[in-house]
Amino acid sequence: MTLPAAPPPSVAAAIRGALLTADPLAKARATRAVARDWRLGRLAAEFDVAMPDRPARPAEPELLPPGRMPKRGRGQSERGRIALWHALAHIEFVAIDLALDMAGRFGAAMGRGFVSDFLAVAADEAMHFVVVARKLRALGSRYGALPAHDGLWESAAATRHDVAARLAVVPMVLEARGLDVTPATLERVRASGDSGGARILARILDDEIRHVRIGVKHFVAAADRCGEPPAELWKSLVSRHFRGSVKPPFNDSARESAGLSRDFYAAVAMPQRAG
Ligand SMILES: [Fe+2]
Ligand SMILES: [Fe+2]
Repeated sequence: MTLPAAPPPSVAAAIRGALLTADPLAKARATRAVARDWRLGRLAAEFDVAMPDRPARPAEPELLPPGRMPKRGRGQSERGRIALWHALAHIEFVAIDLALDMAGRFGAAMGRGFVSDFLAVAADEAMHFVVVARKLRALGSRYGALPAHDGLWESAAATRHDVAARLAVVPMVLEARGLDVTPATLERVRASGDSGGARILARILDDEIRHVRIGVKHFVAAADRCGEPPAELWKSLVSRHFRGSVKPPFNDSARESAGLSRDFYAAVAMPQRAG
């Protein structure tokens, strides 16, 4: 005899479960499972539970305000390399939660395509974290061994009520910043003779261009829906919700291929403070 099939779990409950997983590798696995289950139609497009205010994280790394982070130094000493890969591991770890939260918090209003896009981003971030954490272990360290800064999640908390503001700040400022700085890091790593590390960074850079493009696409759609010119809306949201500065040098070609034209960021980068 066959039992009646249980209804599929909701996508929101599955996302919430991954957000509330503290162990980093377990969070990465849970995230990839949510993305796969969604893609295969095993999750209901229901948003019946709320996303947590703060996702679960391991006891380490210790989180410090950005201004209190120890100086990393630019050298290719063993310590400098570990500090670099540790900082990258932390960025990827938080990026998993940022993408999951985007899909779970705003998916009901934004629709299936939005959920699919950001769960695919979350799966990429989970893969990035796993690869970077493995690199860190190969260097004799581990994620959690050093302090990390707490600026990334703050941007999410500040924009939790407005999907346009979240898109303006997370993919279009923070991830776009990654496009600006990664090529120089990649060159330094390659110049030090670490071709494996350079390959990891090249792969991440490729994926991040796609992530920014996804953010731009949904931001422009949101702006169109409320009848606002996207670049104008972006500038006003960034000035209201992002406390850091959007500063050059910009990687114009990577930004361009992500669909982020200079119309958006040129004026913000050089704010003209009228009296
Ligand atoms: Fe990433
Ligand atoms: Fe990303």
